[in-house]
Amino acid sequence: MELSVLLFLAVLMGLLLLLVKGRPSTRGYLPPGPHPLPFLGNLLQMHRGGLLKSFLRLREKYGDVFTVYLGQRPAVMLCGIEAIKEALVDQAEDFSGRGKIATVEPVLQGYGVVFANGDRWKALRRFSVATMRDFGMGKRSVEERIQEEAQCLVEELRKSKGALLNPIFLFHCITSNIICSIVFGKRFDYKDEEFLRLQDLFYQSFSLVSSLYGQLFELFSDFMKFFPGPHRQICKNAQEINAFVGCSVEKHRETLDPSAPRDLIDAYLLRMEKEKSNPHSEFNQKNLILNTFSLFFAGTETTSTTLRYGFLLMLKHPHVAERVHKEIEQVIGKHRPPALEDRVKMPYTDAVIHEIQRFADLLPLGLPHMVTKDTHFRGYIIPKDTEVFPILNSALRDPRYFEKPDAFNPDHFLDANGALKKNEAFIPFSLGKRICLGEGIAKAELFLFFTTILQNFSLASPVAPEDIDLTPQENGVGKLPQQYQIRFLPRQRG
Ligand code: HEM
Repeated sequence: MELSVLLFLAVLMGLLLLLVKGRPSTRGYLPPGPHPLPFLGNLLQMHRGGLLKSFLRLREKYGDVFTVYLGQRPAVMLCGIEAIKEALVDQAEDFSGRGKIATVEPVLQGYGVVFANGDRWKALRRFSVATMRDFGMGKRSVEERIQEEAQCLVEELRKSKGALLNPIFLFHCITSNIICSIVFGKRFDYKDEEFLRLQDLFYQSFSLVSSLYGQLFELFSDFMKFFPGPHRQICKNAQEINAFVGCSVEKHRETLDPSAPRDLIDAYLLRMEKEKSNPHSEFNQKNLILNTFSLFFAGTETTSTTLRYGFLLMLKHPHVAERVHKEIEQVIGKHRPPALEDRVKMPYTDAVIHEIQRFADLLPLGLPHMVTKDTHFRGYIIPKDTEVFPILNSALRDPRYFEKPDAFNPDHFLDANGALKKNEAFIPFSLGKRICLGEGIAKAELFLFFTTILQNFSLASPVAPEDIDLTPQENGVGKLPQQYQIRFLPRQRG
């Protein structure tokens, strides 16, 4: 018999044995779910529309808590605010681990606050929260920094003289500059080539992570990682970004004044120095670079994509934009910049921003968690280190909490008297110990950028509202709107 035939038979026998063995073995007693095939896991149950659609379909059959095999990895899905809360809040410690996103795993390798676990995560989270507060709220508050950035944006938009433009690049610049001012102690000009290159690398990477390819990679990374493909581009992009961060760290080292740290990198370098005799310290060079990278990735794409969705929604619903203009005129007027204290007096605008975030549904699958020990949950036993996805989309689009979940309607957040109405299923920043660390900064940015733009400009589109397409361009880990063109027309100063 020829060697190739022998090999073929051997592989076939191997596969048959695996099939007979059935479900990949796990300890514990996992929630129900479709029967997985060896190697392929639940590939056959996956929908062409991507992971979210597939998971929502499985929910119809298996209920709010079920198990899906992403290739060989079992992952528990949590749907609906009740299940998500029970896990992330009521059993906060057990569900506080971080799972992996296969496309970014080779870049971060468990370093940096977003993807770290255990003591490393605790140290980095504590440090990042404290320094963001100190350098965000210290001498110059985050509010002032955002107001300043918003005025730079207004100047730049005035220069466009109402010409059609794609807002993507400016929105990246403004949100990135807020993080830059906290982390590097400076903002960049919108024409700075290096800065623009960084924005492009982040955007490309977020799009690739969220693409259909990125979702397929999530299922088969163990196999696909050996072959060329877009996942390699994500690593290349990250290397370029990290080289930039590395250069900036070196400049900080040269000018560091221990008595007056200016920004997050200075604070980190001082901490490194303080802990240099501790071989187990998490304050090392690798965490410095990758923590900075993580804060950028988490803090730039998220807020700028939400703004981009927001203005697309305003073009689609001009009557909503008109009511926001009116409220701005009544409460703020034309002659001073918006401030955070205006928000409580502007319930309609606040409701619109809530609804933008709800509708944008930026991270529909949440970020993957992981259980830190064998965990009893709703009668099941989830083995230590199993991944858990809090499907934020299932809360944000829950018809029991939002009357018309798939429509954009600010009334979802207004009571009969026109006051802001809170809704417990509104969890775009997730919940529990891993809740978004930049929630306060993101909310301040969304309010101040949104109102400053609408105070100064009316919006116009070459496409009629009824023809504006809200279908996302990518809908994987992140949900990205289609690219569009918009005119910012200066409003009369009066
Ligand atoms: C509209 C804007 C934003 C949204 C919708 C958003 C949403 C989220 C979500 C859903 C998570 C995952 C939480 C979990 O694991 O359950 C997260 C984590 C995180 N976000 Fe945000 N985020 C936004 C802006 C920001 C900003 C501006 C920053 C930085 C200043 C930031 C920094 C982080 C960090 C560091 C984590 C990881 C926290 C950890 O693992 O302990 N985010 N965010």
